[in-house]
Amino acid sequence: MSAAAKSVADRYFVVSLPDADDFDAWREAARGLVQAGVSPERVAWTAPGVSGDLFAQQDADGGGPQFRPPRPGAPPVRANRRFVSLARNAVLHSDPERFALLYRLLWRLQRNPHVMEDKADPEVRRLEELDRNVRRDSHKMHAFVRFRLVENETDGEHYVAWFEPEHHILRANAGFFVRRFANMKWSILTPAGSLHWDGDVLSEGPPAQRSDAPGGDPMEDLWRSYYASIFNPARLKIGAMLKEMPRKYWKNMPEAALIPELIAGAQKRESKMVTAGALDMGERPETLAAIGHAIHACRHCPIGQLDNDAVMGEGPLGATLMIVGEQPGDQEDMTGRPFVGPAGQLLDRHLEHAGIDRRAAYVTNAVKHFKFVPRGKRRLHQSPTAKEIDVCRWWVESERMIVKPKLVLALGASAARGMLGKTVSVTKMGGAPIALEDGSELWLTVHPSYLLRLDGAARAEQTRLFDADLAGVKARLEALGA
Ligand code: URA
Repeated sequence: MSAAAKSVADRYFVVSLPDADDFDAWREAARGLVQAGVSPERVAWTAPGVSGDLFAQQDADGGGPQFRPPRPGAPPVRANRRFVSLARNAVLHSDPERFALLYRLLWRLQRNPHVMEDKADPEVRRLEELDRNVRRDSHKMHAFVRFRLVENETDGEHYVAWFEPEHHILRANAGFFVRRFANMKWSILTPAGSLHWDGDVLSEGPPAQRSDAPGGDPMEDLWRSYYASIFNPARLKIGAMLKEMPRKYWKNMPEAALIPELIAGAQKRESKMVTAGALDMGERPETLAAIGHAIHACRHCPIGQLDNDAVMGEGPLGATLMIVGEQPGDQEDMTGRPFVGPAGQLLDRHLEHAGIDRRAAYVTNAVKHFKFVPRGKRRLHQSPTAKEIDVCRWWVESERMIVKPKLVLALGASAARGMLGKTVSVTKMGGAPIALEDGSELWLTVHPSYLLRLDGAARAEQTRLFDADLAGVKARLEALGA
């Protein structure tokens, strides 16, 4: 069959984008391809600096034609806001497969508009990962670019910085530096290109080398003393710091010379501050809505770095009973509600059996983010560490102060630690309520997921004890007038 006789959808296309970071060009080409019914395996994408075997897929008839946009009146292309916002960032990633990934997802979105809601989908997850990597790279650029002063005859004072981004983020971040350093004349040099601001006009220049940028200058002393003064031992996590501020950036940062000295002894001080509850979490929130808002952005422990959404407690303000679990699981993370997965369903059955109305209780967790490790398509639950629970106590305690329950039921050891700030044995302490400082009572029992892990006689016995604990809670609630 000749090329002319084949329909568009039967042929292979090579799309050459003009720039490695050109989202609009990708979008225009992708729209045209979708409208023409060209399936993802028939498209090869390339852009300057993108290598790999993209050209392996040439047109079946040997031409590898550039794609031409479809005729007017072609059907509209569906892409939801979330996809577009992630795609804008993902295009800036250095992964040569990014354009193809985006096109596959766009193609799937035409048939299933809910694709982006499936957090376990490998392509959605990869897109989220690209977006995260690019945001992190931009964040590093904002934080670690260090200008050095050079004087030149035509310009007078001019500031030059050297930076090595991992992704194609230079142009996308130009606006940030223009706004921030509007009154300076500056250049940012990178191995992929350069930006120049003359106080008025931004221009782009060719790639540069590190040796094109100047060495130290007197401003560096200023940086160093500023850094030493803001260095906060309570926020220092060496592993996290190295991840956030990899050594490769240190050579451009005058203050980095101080880091080893500042680290010395800081860890000891930090653990004292956590133990003493003095970790600086800012102002205590005054409403549940404020907590719900703040926990999403909380990055005070490594779980927050997983970048999934936090799950807020739910239930009426002033509830007599507050039920505290360990942390959201996979389904809680996806729905944004506590105790809706298998453990939650088991809990609901036993609460109902005990005559406790879950809707009248405030249900929450000691830890607000789901901690997991990815395994293929699945996300496997990981128990939070004592330190992670202690950091998150700030939020669950804030919830308790606002809801003001008379009785708190902690399910399992993590929840107990979240309420008490120390480890206790739930089975040894169960049955004997503990008085909390505001006059309310803490009751302890096992976590329903513990029951789910047992079988046979052990499960029957533990279930009996669990029911007995809930019956005790019910009786106490009645005595409290609930
Ligand atoms: N396990 C918990 O501890 N909390 C939930 O919300 C779900 C499962």
